[in-house]
Amino acid sequence: MGEGHLPVLVDEVLTSLAVGPGSSVADCTVGGGGHAERLLETTSPDGRLLGIDADRAAIAEAERVLARFGDRVVLRHANFEAIYDTAIESGLAPLDGALFDLGLSSYQLADPARGFSFAADAPPDMRFDETSGVSALELIERSSERELAGILATFGEERRAGRIAKAIVAARSEGRIVTAADLADVVARAAPSRPGSADAGRIHPATRTFQALRVAVNREVEVLTAGLAGALAALKPGGRMAVISYHSIEDRIVKRFIARESRDCIEEPLPPVCTCGHRAQLRAVTKGVITPGPEEVRRNRRARSAKLRVAEKLA
Ligand SMILES: C[S@@+](CC[C@H](N)C(=O)[O-])C[C@H]1O[C@@H](n2cnc3c(N)ncnc32)[C@H](O)[C@@H]1O
Repeated sequence: MGEGHLPVLVDEVLTSLAVGPGSSVADCTVGGGGHAERLLETTSPDGRLLGIDADRAAIAEAERVLARFGDRVVLRHANFEAIYDTAIESGLAPLDGALFDLGLSSYQLADPARGFSFAADAPPDMRFDETSGVSALELIERSSERELAGILATFGEERRAGRIAKAIVAARSEGRIVTAADLADVVARAAPSRPGSADAGRIHPATRTFQALRVAVNREVEVLTAGLAGALAALKPGGRMAVISYHSIEDRIVKRFIARESRDCIEEPLPPVCTCGHRAQLRAVTKGVITPGPEEVRRNRRARSAKLRVAEKLA
């Protein structure tokens, strides 16, 4: 792995998770171990950390970075949708804290073989776990134009989904999509940034297409929903979960999850007498979201879209 994943909102995560010596914490997206290292320092001398990642290369990197903490660390190659079972099986449940730092790491983005970046001279794979599911290229090859447009509109909130899907299907049938760079080029030609628009010169025209394909191949909506529920179940009363998201689809899921689990009755509209039996299990610790300050954004471009939400399990 290369160098250089800077963890985002680290001080804010440590303060809001409020963990200390002896705490038991799950880092559900351990990545290069940046947040995990700080969590282990904060919970020293005897706190324990369960580090999960769907990417084997990330687990290998975390193993290297966290080696000095010895048996205070347990690492698992797993999807965080299985956080509850993994926390039980590893002996770390119930947890004092759980962290999700969503999306991809700088290591994954920088590795051309993974096909996450617009410039990658390799097939667009985009799976966090290369050992399961289908790659983005396979998804493109299997999907109809209509299905592709649906994926781009739903998971990328791409307003020009129809036009882009049409161009991708045409390029695909002519064998013109081999690498991630080819894909980015097809999208940029079909839907170039509009001069003078807010996005022009700021983000690549294929940003939303790449996001949508990544969300689809990694089943991000489904696994995040399951992961949040699993983390809540694995927390002890008074334990906290912190979630850093990087796009509006992720943040909406987190916001709705916290709102729903902070309410007793979840029937809509609220009936005079509740029959759903749902009971509030969380309280939001942060009012709204915590975002990085300008200094952090200057140091770390990846931080610019980060949003942190924190919630506490009720007693
Ligand atoms: C932004 S990085 C985390 C970086 C980490 N906080 C650090 O400081 O080094 C996100 C990580 O989450 C992993 N990931 C994404 N979705 C996952 C999932 N559903 N289950 C497990 N790991 C996942 C990715 O493979 C990636 O390594």
